Amino acid sequence: RSPAYSEPHRPQFHFTPPENWMNDPNGLVYHEGEYHLFYQYNPYGEQWGHMSWGHAVSDDMLHWEHLPVALEEENGIMIFSGSAVVDRQNTSGLGTADNPPMVAVYTGHYTDEDNPRQDQRIAYSLDNGRSWTKYTANPVIDEAMENFRDPKVIWHTETERWIMVVALPTRHKVRFYSSPNLLDWKLESEFGPAGATGGVWECPDLFELPVDGREGESRWVLQVDLNPGSVAGGSGGQYFVGSFDGKTFSRDEHARERTNWVDYGKDFYAVQSFSNMPDNRRVWLAWMNNWQYAGVIPVKPWRGAMTVPRELGLAMTEQGPRLYQQPVPELQQIYKERHQMEDIQLTAGEDVRHDQLRGTAFRMKMTVRMEDAKQFGVRVRKGESEETVIGYDVAQEQLFVDRKKSGEVKVHESFADTVQAAPLETDNQYITLDILVDHSSVEVFANEGRRLITNRIFPRAASDRIELFSRGGTVHIDTLTFWPLKSVWNT
Ligand code: FRU
Repeated sequence: RSPAYSEPHRPQFHFTPPENWMNDPNGLVYHEGEYHLFYQYNPYGEQWGHMSWGHAVSDDMLHWEHLPVALEEENGIMIFSGSAVVDRQNTSGLGTADNPPMVAVYTGHYTDEDNPRQDQRIAYSLDNGRSWTKYTANPVIDEAMENFRDPKVIWHTETERWIMVVALPTRHKVRFYSSPNLLDWKLESEFGPAGATGGVWECPDLFELPVDGREGESRWVLQVDLNPGSVAGGSGGQYFVGSFDGKTFSRDEHARERTNWVDYGKDFYAVQSFSNMPDNRRVWLAWMNNWQYAGVIPVKPWRGAMTVPRELGLAMTEQGPRLYQQPVPELQQIYKERHQMEDIQLTAGEDVRHDQLRGTAFRMKMTVRMEDAKQFGVRVRKGESEETVIGYDVAQEQLFVDRKKSGEVKVHESFADTVQAAPLETDNQYITLDILVDHSSVEVFANEGRRLITNRIFPRAASDRIELFSRGGTVHIDTLTFWPLKSVWNT
């Protein structure tokens, strides 16, 4: 154990397990003042294996308390990804009316190579997730399939029943099942192949969101992960916008032209949203990694980190309603101080540094007018011969993150072979950037979270400088706000 959380590259405000391997977030659920985070976990080592559900709780999605492993591999069946719900009306009968059960729905993965198989199973807890019982009549869905995984269960209010969306990875499809009680499931429909199909489909999510500025209008979002074949290479996520009537998901007509990527970086996978959140909030977080190199990133004695929790919304665009993501407002609780600057004029070729702008864990927000510049950017985690560049290119209308010189880059051949780029339009010459930097990551939220780039980086601890630059013309920064962030592990 390492309670100090002070090892090289240890994230300071992102979730990581104390030790050992972690991949997907699982079972994200809010219940009685607590957020639960379960995660794909190997209790025995730093590589993928013995998959179980690790567990942590928090009251703000930032400060986490580690709890014992919730669900362990047993009898040759690993506990693969899945979700959790609070069965408030005790429809399952696994609890009582006074003490409704928390129910985890996960994939059972058979480790016997002669009998490859995946099925859907449940477990329940009657003590706020502290202890778990596997349902005796598991599995609850068995289609004798080799690839059939990652159930996400939601309560569908209109039809008053449970809906499970689950992936058929190699067929590039998801299936929808319905149930009155979480135990008996009926196949309703399938969706796919659609969108990007260059890899297996995994870890679907499904939720409804209001459309900003359209009274009473809402759309359904179906999110599906893809490995490999994602926009930045390797694993990543896409989403579809449409309607869902409790049986079938139908993609909106105008939504069909191009793939909607949830994030254009290399390190955003298996995203899942919390269920049962108060105030109709929809918040999700992802595994901040890529299957291309997840097993060889230079960290010890743990491996794997989650992104910051992000609040979701739908904004109207010319292509129809589109997802945006913003860091949760809870983040303000870990602001150390605040530096605000106004009217910074950058001339071409100038590199600007400010005494207050320095750090290895911070948030930085800017409203930038491009004027006649060709490129604008900020170099973060800059030190001797290393830097991570976050920038905007006017001619290409692209946001980019370049980690080619970010520190330890020889991690894997796919780690620093490309620059991550995302389409981004200026609005009357303006762009906004909201940047979260931690000891081993950069998350960029551009134009109010409409475009995202999430990347891991492994710079030296001493690389703490920040530099602003302009190329080919002038740039005007209307406002720049900078907040050094506290560690969530020793406060
Ligand atoms: C996604 C995934 C899931 C699976 C889990 C196994 O990263 O491959 O499809 O349930 O990881 O650990």
